[in-house]
Amino acid sequence: MVTKNVKSDTKCESFDVVYLNKNDIDSVLEIEKNSFSHPWSKQLFLEELDNLSSICLKVLSKEGTLLGYIMLRKIVDEMHLLNIAVKKEFRNKGIAKALITEAQKHFMGVSCIVLEVRVSNKPAIELYKKLGFEQLYVRKRYYPDGEDALIMEKKICAQVE
Ligand SMILES: CC(C)(COP(=O)(O)OP(=O)(O)OC[C@H]1O[C@@H](n2cnc3c(N)ncnc32)[C@H](O)[C@@H]1OP(=O)(O)O)[C@@H](O)C(=O)NCCC(=O)NCCS
Repeated sequence: MVTKNVKSDTKCESFDVVYLNKNDIDSVLEIEKNSFSHPWSKQLFLEELDNLSSICLKVLSKEGTLLGYIMLRKIVDEMHLLNIAVKKEFRNKGIAKALITEAQKHFMGVSCIVLEVRVSNKPAIELYKKLGFEQLYVRKRYYPDGEDALIMEKKICAQVE
């Protein structure tokens, strides 16, 4: 378990970054539904939790409330960032940054992280840029509503398995 400090308007709060498990699903689904126009289903989350190639982490407040989560899956030597979301009232406090930074510590034999993001999703694009992701190309009409996706990538220094 890793404890981090996050900024807030008035004080420094601390939280833990730990593995996500099936008992977290209801809290995850609540954040998911409040974060996306096309949220993942419960089944999709459960499949990812069961996938041995996936890394699924959550952020817990000091009181044990789930504030955010991340899911990545390793495909050959690429880590695909499949999902990340933070509870609305807790955004802009460094939680997503902490989730991605912490997830990277679990990588073995990974050459890059890749992801797609809606071209209109400025907070997410800014987050990824801040963490060193580069814009690769636009995939036209990628999303069900016809919006384009921006494909981004961050190279990772090779680690020994
Ligand atoms: C995108 C999201 C995960 C960011 O989470 P967060 O915890 O608020 O992000 P952080 O506080 O860690 O922000 C880290 C950096 O991202 C950028 N950023 C985050 N929110 C931003 C915003 N609203 N506007 C501009 N930049 C923003 C900033 O550069 C920030 O660094 P700084 O605080 O030092 O300036 C969050 O907004 C969210 O859950 N959105 C809905 C779900 C979603 O869109 N997920 C991504 C799908 S691809």
